[in-house]
Amino acid sequence: MNYVIGVDLGTSAVKTILVNETGEICAETSKSYPLFHERAGWSEQNPDDWVTGTIDALQEMMKEANVPAENIKGISYSGQMHGLVLLDEQRNVLRKAILWNDTRTTKQCEEITATLGTEMLSITRNRVLEGFTLPKIRWVQENEPELFEKAALFLLPKDYVRLKMTGEAHMDYSDAAGTLLLDVAKKEWSAAICKTFDIPLSLCPPLVESTGQTGTLLSSIAEITGLRAETPIFAGGADNACGAIGAGILSSGKTMCSIGTSGVILAHEDDSSRDFEGKVHFFNHGKKNAFYTMGVTLSAGHSLQWFKETFAKDESFDEMLKEVGSIPPGAAGLLYTPYLVGERTPHPDSVIRASFIGIDSSHTRAHFARAVMEGITFSLQESIDLFRKEGKNVDTVISIGGGAKNDVWLQMQADIFEAKVVKLQNEQGPAMGAAMIAAAGSGMFESLEQCAEVFIKEGQTFLPDAERAKQYKSLFSIYQTVYDQTKPINEQLQSFRV
Ligand code: XUL
Repeated sequence: MNYVIGVDLGTSAVKTILVNETGEICAETSKSYPLFHERAGWSEQNPDDWVTGTIDALQEMMKEANVPAENIKGISYSGQMHGLVLLDEQRNVLRKAILWNDTRTTKQCEEITATLGTEMLSITRNRVLEGFTLPKIRWVQENEPELFEKAALFLLPKDYVRLKMTGEAHMDYSDAAGTLLLDVAKKEWSAAICKTFDIPLSLCPPLVESTGQTGTLLSSIAEITGLRAETPIFAGGADNACGAIGAGILSSGKTMCSIGTSGVILAHEDDSSRDFEGKVHFFNHGKKNAFYTMGVTLSAGHSLQWFKETFAKDESFDEMLKEVGSIPPGAAGLLYTPYLVGERTPHPDSVIRASFIGIDSSHTRAHFARAVMEGITFSLQESIDLFRKEGKNVDTVISIGGGAKNDVWLQMQADIFEAKVVKLQNEQGPAMGAAMIAAAGSGMFESLEQCAEVFIKEGQTFLPDAERAKQYKSLFSIYQTVYDQTKPINEQLQSFRV
């Protein structure tokens, strides 16, 4: 039997999976690493923590799986998007990575938009947002000029891990699209954007397809992990592109809802000229010459994680959520907006913060937990609403990640999205997409589509209930009014944040 390995470099942990040629998960491991919030709005990680976590996870997984290393036909990666890793001439890390959910760059975003606004949108197909990489580069240029002087190369998180495992530096198109430096339609670094913002083109790594081979394992890494140095390594993709591949979103028609730390609603696009005027993100897919449209909720799983850590620290998620199913839709008049670290879609706003509205003395912790799940889902519904208004048909949603682990939540998604929600039998989130990239890259399958036919098995489906869907429709319009009403309050509160 042959196997491939998928590595998903997330924000809270790295997950590795070993998948056989029939798509069965034979082993999996996960290792977490710290997140640093030195100041309000900052979010950083130490790139070498990712490398240590990945190597430890691979070593442990290989030991447990006990399969012959020569049967492993390839490894590939999925990674948290946008995070800036700056390296010097010797490829040493110059500072902690500034992550996708770091919101320090509002000033830089305003300056970039004022300098090159409409041209940026036509080249990169996206609005300038705090989470993307270019504003982070500008922040370093402005605030740490001596450090920027030493910078010879920038990478995104998974590319740094791959560099440390192979000795080679590359970036694939799906991740490069999230930097605001890529000409998305032409698939090349934009010399015009680099020139305008004093970024030497040499800072940008060579571009490759997601299924492109980017070397083999360094012998030192092979020795520690129990893998062979000849193991082919494939570039991989952005976590959302990989999530979409793992959910079979490889042609137009299906929509994905993925709830990790962030939450996304994503749809496949064939045509690079499709214009959403920056209202939703538009990126290159991990599938060659394909694209996807995406709306992002910054604190989706993060909202529930925060709620658990703050109010149910010693319980499991299952324990914390066990009574949620008996609470009625609308959590008896309690609404939550998930803006813990600001928001992206449909409100690009780094200052807004979350709220609970309508707290009543009859509410229990279970009402709050249900309100958090509903608030996250309402926020994702805002993206579905945008897609529908742009003429996209959203009638089937493949749900992956944390939101697919709880049946009450899956039913809630069907009721709020007013669409059929499908769970996968062997759901592994973006790690599965990474494994599929390795399977297609290594020639185990001719294409990602052919691999999807074998690897992806649809499971239970959830249909909207007419009565609940009606209730949620009214609640959604109330939810939509909370943003405008809490915006000025949050602007006043901003100076009190530490
Ligand atoms: C997408 C985004 C997040 C990260 C999470 O634009 O910022 O979904 O990719 O890992």
